[in-house]
Amino acid sequence: MLKPNLDERIQLGMKAIAVFPAKRDVELIDEPEPQIATPSDVKLRMLEVGVCGTDREICSFEYGTPPPGSEHLVIGHESIGEVVEIGSAVSRVKVGDLVIPMVRRPCPHAYCRACREGRQDFCFTGDFSERGIKERHGFMTELVVDDEQYMNIVPSSLRDVAILVEPLTIAEKGISEIWQVQQRLPWLAARDGEPDGTGHNAVVLGAGPVGLLGAMALVTRGFTTYVYSREATPNPKADLVTSIGATYVSASTDTLDDLVMRVGNIDVVYEASGASKASFDLMKGLGTNGIFVFTGVPGRKGPMEIDTDSIMRNLVLRNQVVFGTVNANRPAFEAAIADLEVFRRRFPTALSALITGRFAMDDYRSLLLGNATGIKNVIAIG
Ligand code: BGC
Repeated sequence: MLKPNLDERIQLGMKAIAVFPAKRDVELIDEPEPQIATPSDVKLRMLEVGVCGTDREICSFEYGTPPPGSEHLVIGHESIGEVVEIGSAVSRVKVGDLVIPMVRRPCPHAYCRACREGRQDFCFTGDFSERGIKERHGFMTELVVDDEQYMNIVPSSLRDVAILVEPLTIAEKGISEIWQVQQRLPWLAARDGEPDGTGHNAVVLGAGPVGLLGAMALVTRGFTTYVYSREATPNPKADLVTSIGATYVSASTDTLDDLVMRVGNIDVVYEASGASKASFDLMKGLGTNGIFVFTGVPGRKGPMEIDTDSIMRNLVLRNQVVFGTVNANRPAFEAAIADLEVFRRRFPTALSALITGRFAMDDYRSLLLGNATGIKNVIAIG
């Protein structure tokens, strides 16, 4: 066979969206096709990749690190792919399966018990890597090779909404930790046949995709759920919130004090705004035995005034728990896939409405560098 000439070889490559931090640039580039390298590798044809706040931060050079020795980082970590080739020892997936790859990979240190237990979401050395974020290329490209252990099979019936699995894993991990903490209150266990959150109030701070998916997860668990966000009503997110049986409260008409009066005892706050001032102000309104879960990563804007005495008094006198949660383990991915099936049955219109646009790879500049619009925008690749 003749050797391909240069032009043909370039065609053997594939397109990828990459950030070049040193030259502060974001480009559509050609990358060589990845090849199966170990028996447990699988090759995926990427179908869709979601655009999230983290991607936009990476593209404004606030976050993100290329792999060692590389000037660029291929971005993208919310994804769905189709298995197109498998290594000789692969047993968990087969060609044709639709899969959602996990994001984080363990650190190499023998003493990191979290990573050695497969809980790299709790890595305590900080030397983990994350696809599309930290030291490992991501999924905004045509083909990806990765180990089968990081794949989660998703039923083809969920193909059109499965891109929401990864952002939903944030809520799944957070909610599973809420239950672990509330084992300290055994008398709160739900009665037979009732979802665990029945009779409890939850406030979601922020109406982006992580907030809205979190609200769906809380509603399906029986919580009386409120979503507090900046935008005045009427607006499409408020309509979506109402349609799932939650209450939208706008900061343009209700202060945080109004919100607290309206809700009563706030049992859970699920923060999904990345807004630190509003979060700590709301923390003052957290109820007795309440839990405040942080998921947002704020940019650094300098110190701000918050009422630390009230917050600390309440933390002690009301037995409150505040925790942050990042990344997700396999059970959280499995729970997200199962929950998407539930959301599809209970809120089909609202679930589809979360995906506000599907774009071509060529549209990357406006999606990543332009003003954020819609709820979840997706790059359709394959
Ligand atoms: C991703 C997580 C990741 C986190 C921090 C989020 O956008 O969903 O998987 O751990 O960013 O990098």
